[in-house]
Amino acid sequence: MCIDGPTASGKGAVAKLVSEALGFAYLDSGVLYRLVALQALRAGWADDRLLSENDELQLAQWAAELDVRFDGEQVLLNSENVALDIREERVGNMASKIAVSATLRSALLERQRAFAQGAGLVADGRDMGSVVFPDAPLKIFLQASAEVRAERRYKQLIAKGFSANMVDLLQDLNERDARDANRTQAPLKPAQDAYILDSSDLTLLETVDVVLKMYAQQV
Ligand code: C5P
Repeated sequence: MCIDGPTASGKGAVAKLVSEALGFAYLDSGVLYRLVALQALRAGWADDRLLSENDELQLAQWAAELDVRFDGEQVLLNSENVALDIREERVGNMASKIAVSATLRSALLERQRAFAQGAGLVADGRDMGSVVFPDAPLKIFLQASAEVRAERRYKQLIAKGFSANMVDLLQDLNERDARDANRTQAPLKPAQDAYILDSSDLTLLETVDVVLKMYAQQV
């Protein structure tokens, strides 16, 4: 099952709970982009860097060599737990900037597909239904208004102990949405056969419930 959608639409939390309810594996594809972004930031890349051809090859190399393991809440990059680091806004913004690269996207493609083993998979991202898993039995595009999403992101960041500011968050979110939607490679848009689900007025558990009912009708 694929759950795609814009930044902070709640797709991650929904996908995780749905995967647990169904006993399926879970892929948060944004983490892979964030891990490569973290490597770029640690290598000193400025966030206004214009990607050269060599930069794209470097990104693809980082992606190919990504030594990552998921252990509960931990995300181990070369055995270092970077679960918190990759959630920083600057990492999300850098992820969205490098995600325009076709070279990087194709370097991550097989790695993402490799998660589809065993009982089933719930994958969340931007292009899970449109590019990575075109034959998925159920594709959902999870929407919510920009204000609702900024508020959710704000609460998430505060709960994790980060500082946050609603005005900046809303601006970052709109910029990131525009960049994700307007890129030529795998732009953020619903797959042709995706169901659009707006969660602006739904709680997390209500959204999970709707998704599980949709899945039950599908199989
Ligand atoms: O979902 P998350 O906010 O963690 O993703 C960070 C960035 O990675 C997104 O803004 C998007 O540009 C990129 N991304 C992507 N394709 C995916 C998942 C994430 O382009 N499947």
